[in-house]
Amino acid sequence: MDDPRANGKSTYEHDHDHVYKKPKLSSFITESEIRQEFGHHQPGIARINNGSFGSCPASIIAAQKRWQLKFLQQPDHFFFNLLQKRILHSRTLIKNLINADDVSEVSLVDNATTAAAIVLQNIGWAFAQGRFQRGDAVVMLHCAFQAVKKSIEAYVTRAGGSVIVVRLPFPVNSNEEVIAEFKKGLAKGKANGRNVRLAIIDHITSMPCVVIPVRELVDICREEGVDKVFVDAAHAIGSVHVDVKEIGADFYVSNLHKWFFCPPSVAFLYCRQSPISHDLHHPVVSHEYGNGLAIESSWIGTRDYSSQLVVPEVFDFISGFEGGIEGIRKKNHDAVVEMGQMLANAWGTNLGSPPEMCPSMIMVGLPASLGILSDEDALCLRTHLRDCFGVEVPIHYQAPKDGEVGTRDWDGCTTGYARISHQVYNTVDDYVKFRDAINQLVQNGLTSKMLSRKITSQLTD
Ligand SMILES: Cc1ncc(COP(=O)(O)O)c(C=O)c1O
Repeated sequence: MDDPRANGKSTYEHDHDHVYKKPKLSSFITESEIRQEFGHHQPGIARINNGSFGSCPASIIAAQKRWQLKFLQQPDHFFFNLLQKRILHSRTLIKNLINADDVSEVSLVDNATTAAAIVLQNIGWAFAQGRFQRGDAVVMLHCAFQAVKKSIEAYVTRAGGSVIVVRLPFPVNSNEEVIAEFKKGLAKGKANGRNVRLAIIDHITSMPCVVIPVRELVDICREEGVDKVFVDAAHAIGSVHVDVKEIGADFYVSNLHKWFFCPPSVAFLYCRQSPISHDLHHPVVSHEYGNGLAIESSWIGTRDYSSQLVVPEVFDFISGFEGGIEGIRKKNHDAVVEMGQMLANAWGTNLGSPPEMCPSMIMVGLPASLGILSDEDALCLRTHLRDCFGVEVPIHYQAPKDGEVGTRDWDGCTTGYARISHQVYNTVDDYVKFRDAINQLVQNGLTSKMLSRKITSQLTD
């Protein structure tokens, strides 16, 4: 794929041994350049789901291909002279971006799932080696990401640990509501004298999507004697401000392929220097075992490391936007709030949280008449929107609270929410298409149950 900017050339050029930076373009990226950068997106799809898999501009895909070719051209030279130096450079850029103290605190790993395995494996060993007692606990939000819950099951529950689940209120009106629930959950979990060994806190929950007051929750964990805090911030970098020292957690992971324009897959895992730093290990053991997590992670056997190597080019891409990453995230946030309000007004529904608790994603209530009464219903609607309307958007089922249900199952209370995203490539038309699709379903009297029957009969026909 060609790089559409700078007459087909990236601002990074490669000679045999080096990647050096040419002088930066003086003007900001234009609307038509943005369209070219994302010209590989399938036409006709209103892609308002950047949150799930992120997006990667054409110039970065081109840079990635150059790195892949560099390896294939002379693998030995690449391995002995380039790879480690360039990964260190990527880590240094991230270290400065997130305000870590030292580059040794920053590892590049494949994704948030891998980071969770690294942290939870360490907890599992503490149980296995008798440093933690049977029943010692891990705390998590009830809506923690499914892969992370599975990791808890594999590494902690299996080793004899217990799990304290904190319910995130939703819809939610303020940070105070989240803080109050967290305190309640923690107190309940500790009531029978359990030691809380780890709290896993999402910075931005996935479904439903809410920005969590992580700094305050980390402080509470410290006050309550929780040993370690792991912030799962898979969505954070590029969509909220990240300062790891300010947040104060022991471990903090964010994907770079969601909101930071890297190709899949790469994430940074920040591990604050501590006495256990030497005992954190990549779950794939290779030559560098024992040399520190960052070094272990930079060689886990022969594989494609290009997504880690393009980090400098991604910084260059981002610097083409006014205000850099802060400018991008502010614009995305403002736009997604505006689009969320437009949809909620059109459907006569509500937003799932106030704007200040939204990143570049927002939860918008769907008309109650769609009758979303289960996770399956939500998935059916999502599938139908993709297949019949070309709209890509995740749908969330929110069980009604006691006393909220009307005369018919779904009367009068919002049980379905759409999670809409905004990234630089989105236009108002994407959201108008979504609005009109839902309006049409409502006008036609379709419910998720009917869609489910339709999809089932198509599958069995
Ligand atoms: C909160 C959260 N944690 C973890 C993950 C897992 O990310 P990945 O699939 O890149 O490992 C996600 C993915 O969306 C997420 O939203």
